[in-house]
Amino acid sequence: MSFDPNIPNVARMYDYYLGGKDNFPADRAAAEKVLEIVPHIPVGVRENRGFLGRAVRFLRAQGITQFLDIGAGLPTRENVHQVAGDAAKVVYVDNDPQVLAHARALLEDSPQVRIIDGDVREPARVLADAGEHLDLSQPVAVLMLAILHFVQDDPRPIVATLTSALAPGSFMALSHVCSDVQPEAAPGVERVYQGASAQFTARRSPEIIALFDGLDLVEPGVVNLPEWRSDNPDFMPFRDSPPYFLCGVARKPAR
Ligand SMILES: C[S@@+](CC[C@H](N)C(=O)[O-])C[C@H]1O[C@@H](n2cnc3c(N)ncnc32)[C@H](O)[C@@H]1O
Repeated sequence: MSFDPNIPNVARMYDYYLGGKDNFPADRAAAEKVLEIVPHIPVGVRENRGFLGRAVRFLRAQGITQFLDIGAGLPTRENVHQVAGDAAKVVYVDNDPQVLAHARALLEDSPQVRIIDGDVREPARVLADAGEHLDLSQPVAVLMLAILHFVQDDPRPIVATLTSALAPGSFMALSHVCSDVQPEAAPGVERVYQGASAQFTARRSPEIIALFDGLDLVEPGVVNLPEWRSDNPDFMPFRDSPPYFLCGVARKPAR
């Protein structure tokens, strides 16, 4: 992928939804079209970052010291290495040149962090490159937050390749936009993203839950973002909503 400010870019659109400044007019125009169809996206993306922080803290408490964050996105507040702390090694993977440039500029001097130009659709290559910094014979947490809805083909083989290579005791944390809440909105959103740097694919809850097959889900299972081990149960946007942005954390069992 090459840098082009005139093509709406999914990392920069996400930055715009989050209220960031790393975006261009083409990104903002496309994001505004999506917001006309799904106005609750800014809440969802903030909740997604909240889930990221809670999941990484949970994983550190489980003794995880190696993180592979695929589809890391433009650096923002509470990036994985900041939440995980200096005792953890982190590999950030993305296929977007702007994301890679920003991440390198910010993190070049950090010995515990590596940035890899990689595509989640080539999971074996991602693992090989990540293995140069992480010890894959020991548990690793693979994070795939808000990325697999940018994979058009069935993402299960990607997840299977990644998890089968991991040591028992490894974890996967995943989040994925879910179209159960507003199925009629999916075609319009997909159309906006057709002209973007990556295409969006709407999925329903059974397809997202199936991504955890073969792994042991930790409590509370696959739920809407704010419901995952919330540290502020009073703040529960869209309480009792049908699935709109599902997430979960699961552990690879010993077999
Ligand atoms: C919506 S952002 C999510 C960022 C972060 N994971 C989060 O949840 O806050 C999606 C990221 O996935 C990256 N991405 C999309 N398709 C990808 C692919 N095939 N391989 C690697 N990264 C990809 C985009 O460049 C973008 O940075």
